[in-house]
Amino acid sequence: MSNKLIIFDTTLRDGEQSPGASMNRDEKVRIARALERLRVDVIEAGFPAASPGDFESVNAVARVVRDSVVCGLARALDADIEKAGLALRDASRCRIHTFIATSPIHMQRKLRMEPDQVIEHAVRAVKKARQYTDDVEFSPEDAGRSEEDFLCRILEAVIEAGAGTLNIPDTVGYSLPDQFGGMIRRLRERIPNSDKAIFSVHCHNDLGLAVANSLSAVLNGARQVECTINGLGERAGNAALEEIVMAVKTRKDVFPCHVDIDTREIVATSRLVSNITGFPVQPNKAIVGANAFAHESGIHQDGVLKSRETYEIMSAEEVGWVANRMVLGKHSGRNAFKTRMQELGIELASEQELNQAFQRFKELADKKHQIFDEDLQALVTEAASVADDEVVRLIALQVCSETGETPHARVTLRLDQDETKGEADGSGAVDASFKAIESIVNTQSTLQLYSVNNITTGTDAQGEVTVRLERAGRIVNGQGADTDIVIASAKAYINAVNKLLTPRQRMHPQVSGDV
Ligand code: KIV
Ligand code: ZN
Repeated sequence: MSNKLIIFDTTLRDGEQSPGASMNRDEKVRIARALERLRVDVIEAGFPAASPGDFESVNAVARVVRDSVVCGLARALDADIEKAGLALRDASRCRIHTFIATSPIHMQRKLRMEPDQVIEHAVRAVKKARQYTDDVEFSPEDAGRSEEDFLCRILEAVIEAGAGTLNIPDTVGYSLPDQFGGMIRRLRERIPNSDKAIFSVHCHNDLGLAVANSLSAVLNGARQVECTINGLGERAGNAALEEIVMAVKTRKDVFPCHVDIDTREIVATSRLVSNITGFPVQPNKAIVGANAFAHESGIHQDGVLKSRETYEIMSAEEVGWVANRMVLGKHSGRNAFKTRMQELGIELASEQELNQAFQRFKELADKKHQIFDEDLQALVTEAASVADDEVVRLIALQVCSETGETPHARVTLRLDQDETKGEADGSGAVDASFKAIESIVNTQSTLQLYSVNNITTGTDAQGEVTVRLERAGRIVNGQGADTDIVIASAKAYINAVNKLLTPRQRMHPQVSGDV
């Protein structure tokens, strides 16, 4: 058995299925480039049949990524597989990942199919996918609650049909580590042609066990793990890539395999994903949380100063934690700016984009002496998130907030081509600003989340605000950054409004009711 553990990242597909985490094409391309720098083996770029926009995003990722395999998800339907094949046609290496549910509850209630029909569909789908690529992955959805005898039958049949990777998903996060690992071992032992395929796992975190279950599977012979940056994903999320990778590296005394990930890229990738999706990383999150390597208590600090190993099992540098570095300032020229952007892997497609980004950088440098890498990332994220679908733009905001007085906001927005003014009172400066914006746009949405993070340290740091709005079951996240957090909040609110105003009909791969 190979001792390489394949890291399959599904941030752009399962991660995107988190409510409000949907990304536009340019955002997906930026994350895909970061994943490639991280050296992930396979990037699942999306579900091309979900919508024309999703098809385009997968195609754009397939066109830029050269080193990693680019994968597209497809239900066990001819039409889905054709779309995946077409979306991936420009990839240097591509994979089609097809799936169908196999648990009694899913087969009876969702698919309304007999087990034999499910096997027929699975085999047909794998054969169809093989017409587009030799690299085909099959998943029996809800394997964690499927009968093992049935899994053995369907998996044997799809290997025979040409599937090279068998991915065993714990779709609803129901399994426990020993049980899940045992299942992987038994499947490998019982399926007669199991040596012709690589076993993979895909665990959800509903019981907080996604990483533990994945690692148990690795100890029982799985050689691919599907995971996401920051553990993003449907409901409680997927197994976190950074935790899987660092567990395998740090405990090489236990794991009989290695990963090819460039771990120094982990923190930068985590920040980028958090930045683009608007899902903040909790401070005590393993590996990438702000406190992951911070030592508060005097006793610990003393120990670490004498010898790092007393309280640290990994080094901060190994996963890419570096102190904020002052890279540019007010007097930096266009060339220095361009070079630093290139070093950060931020591609500016045209001279015009470079000029616009440089202009925004100059405006920021007027307000803030030191510009850090994180500021440059935020600058680009903000521009990319409004580029496609901007209907509403912030022109001016004035807020009066005084002790003993009711805060009041006046806002000017450009709505289509017209400038419109609105004003409102609120319980605070942010509340008044949101109400003033609503008095113009009237989305009648509900504010589900409001969070502020400072991008770097210091009181002149940019505040990065995330706003989550919900309307008629649709959830969107908006982001905004500024040295003034009231303005950052207004930008974030408007960004979310722009997303809400853009009609988006996309199909969910698993709950569509189709095969
Ligand atoms: O959780 C799941 O079962 C999935 C499949 C599509 C692999 O995401
Ligand atoms: Zn999943």
